[in-house]
Amino acid sequence: MKIDVLLGLQWGDEGKGKITDVLTPEYDIIARFQGGPNAGHTLEFNGIKHVLHTIPSGIFHPDKINVIGNGVIIDPYTLAKEIKNLRARGAEPEKNLRISKRAHLIVPTHRLLDAVQEAAKGASKIGSTLKGIGPAYTDKTARHGLRMGDVALPGFKEKFEAQKAANLRIINAFQPEAETLMIEKMTHEEYEKLWFEGLKYISDIPVIDSEVFINQSLLQGKKILAEGAQGAMLDIDFGTYPFVTSSNTVTAGVCSGLGIAPQKVGRVFGVFKAYCTRVGSGPFPTELLDETGEKLRKNGNEFGSTTGRPRRCGWIDLPALRYAVMLNGVTDLVMMKADVLDDFENVNVCTQYNINGQLHDFPAYETLNSNISPVLESHAGWKTRISSFRKWDELPAQFRDYVVSIEQSLNVPVSVISLGPNRDQTVIR
Ligand code: GDP
Ligand code: IMO
Ligand code: MG
Repeated sequence: MKIDVLLGLQWGDEGKGKITDVLTPEYDIIARFQGGPNAGHTLEFNGIKHVLHTIPSGIFHPDKINVIGNGVIIDPYTLAKEIKNLRARGAEPEKNLRISKRAHLIVPTHRLLDAVQEAAKGASKIGSTLKGIGPAYTDKTARHGLRMGDVALPGFKEKFEAQKAANLRIINAFQPEAETLMIEKMTHEEYEKLWFEGLKYISDIPVIDSEVFINQSLLQGKKILAEGAQGAMLDIDFGTYPFVTSSNTVTAGVCSGLGIAPQKVGRVFGVFKAYCTRVGSGPFPTELLDETGEKLRKNGNEFGSTTGRPRRCGWIDLPALRYAVMLNGVTDLVMMKADVLDDFENVNVCTQYNINGQLHDFPAYETLNSNISPVLESHAGWKTRISSFRKWDELPAQFRDYVVSIEQSLNVPVSVISLGPNRDQTVIR
């Protein structure tokens, strides 16, 4: 068996959570391979709206195993809150959730480091979610991180204190303002107490050698879906650096983040919005700073699932999508939130970048931070409420033309179309 992959092709929040939940019945195991509580994946079904951060989006299917892989970083405080929320909804994550022993821990000082480093950047800040992502991955690669598997071993508390002391030396060197040192409105000491309580609370979730479990499951013929977080344009290597996250969000990250060989990767579902959004700083060539952008934000309810921040909105960016399709080896495109464009007279598509009078495709490395003007192609809007449609053939002709023109430009079929946040508002072609 091969492992299928589902990931974001833009700057995150494409709707990965919804579509993972929709596809889960076809799989036995859903696994996260990178990122951490910076992610916010929203699922809606039976009148319930639920946001997941660290836990894979297959968790509401009790017969499916959900794995938090070695490439993910875990904040026990956040994870404990997530698990409590799941239990309140009747889920029993101790039965169908597994955590890799090799997944690194986000400790309280990582959150402080994130805050002081962002504050020190001033106007050039990344717009981090302040969940401690950058500092935790830094400690991982600097080889003094703590892992889930360490928690049960002798000497864990000593290692924790050593890492804390080292991080506090750096934090103090910034001479931070007192308010920068608050985490979720708590002092470091208060947060640390809840962090350890969280660690205790999650201790009934099995901690396993997930790479062995995943590979053995493949040998047994089990079907596995790897669920990405963030999106290709936030990838640490290929995204709009330095305005990126600290992990490999592209398909390559599945191999290192779950411990599988490249030839075991099967289908790759690339998820994208019918338009484009970004939360946080950095280049966004098709951004609309006018009332059209405001309308996209309003129609699409574009406010962050993790931070509540308003998302920046703009037209779909085909040069960036072509680049993402190439990097990820996308075999199937998944178009989300097409219904948000229902009442637009015209829908624009960016086909190329104009940089100082010259036409470019992505990545345009040297010029990404300079003035890019998108070359726009206008499509007639469909002016129909499409969220109740369930069959491709019944959708308005203008909408089908829009989808076909995008798949032709990206040279990959659009196999799934989402027309609303709910599980059943989905068209499989
Ligand atoms: P993720 O991080 O990729 O899982 O995406 P988020 O959950 O952060 O953001 C996607 C938002 O769009 C959520 O609020 C979803 O409920 C919502 N959503 C998902 N698919 C659709 C859709 O097809 N139409 C509309 N209108 N909303 C959608
Ligand atoms: P999901 O999985 C959208 C953005 C942040 C910031 C940058 C770095 O829900 O799609 P970090 O906290 O990782 O250091 O922030 O990346 N970012 C996201 N944007 N969706 C996400 O996740 C994101 N995770 C991080 O806004 O610009
Ligand atoms: Mg999100």
